[in-house]
Amino acid sequence: MITRLLEVFFIFLPAFIGNALPVVAKNIPGIRRFSRPISPTWLGKNKTYRGLIAGVLGGILCGIILTALVHSGFLLHWVRFDSFYRDFWNGIFFGFLLSFGALIGDMIKSFAKRRVGKKPGAMFQPWDGIDYILASIIVMLPFIFLSWIEIFFLLLIGPLLSLTCNIVAYSIGWKDCWY
Ligand code: CTP
Ligand code: MG
Repeated sequence: MITRLLEVFFIFLPAFIGNALPVVAKNIPGIRRFSRPISPTWLGKNKTYRGLIAGVLGGILCGIILTALVHSGFLLHWVRFDSFYRDFWNGIFFGFLLSFGALIGDMIKSFAKRRVGKKPGAMFQPWDGIDYILASIIVMLPFIFLSWIEIFFLLLIGPLLSLTCNIVAYSIGWKDCWY
C-alpha cells in the first residue's frame, strides 16, 4: 500500500515540478523579464509564457531524470514501474503530459477565477491548490488505473505540496502571498 502510494507519487512528480517552476522562473535573473501574459483578459496577468515554458521544460527534464533513476535501479528498490519512465521517449512523454496537464489545469482555474471576478493572486481555495493535480490526474486516466484511495492521496498531497512551496517561496521573498 505505502509502496504503491510512493510509486504514484513518483509517477506524478513532473506535475508537482511543473506547478512549482513558474514561481522559480519568475525569480531567476535573466528569465524574469519574459513576463508576457498568455491572455491578460481571459487568464489575467499572472499566467505567463515564461511560466508555461519553464514548467513544461522542467516537467520533461524531471521525466528524463526519473527514467535515468529507474534504469540505474535506484528507484526500483521501492517502486516497480512497468509502463512509466521505461525509456527516454517514454520519460519525455509522461514528463510533458503531466506538466502540461498541470499547467493547463492552472490556466482553467485562472479562467474561472476571472469569470467570478477574483483578481490575479487573490485567494480562491480549494481550487488554487487542487487545480493542477486534478488536471494531471485527468490527462493520465487513459494511461493509469488509479484506485479511489490513490486519487484521494494525490488530491491531498497536491494542495499540501503546493502550499508548502508557496510558504517557502513567500518566506524567501519570491512570492507576494503565502497561499
Ligand atoms: N506563473 C506564471 N505563469 C504561469 C503560471 C504561474 O508566470 N503560467 C507565476 C506567476 O508569477 C504567478 C505565480 O507563478 O503569480 C503563482 O501562480 P498561481 O498561484 O497559480 O497564480 P496566481 O498568482 O494566484 O494567479 P491567478 O489568480 O490567475 O491564479
Ligand atoms: Mg496554481
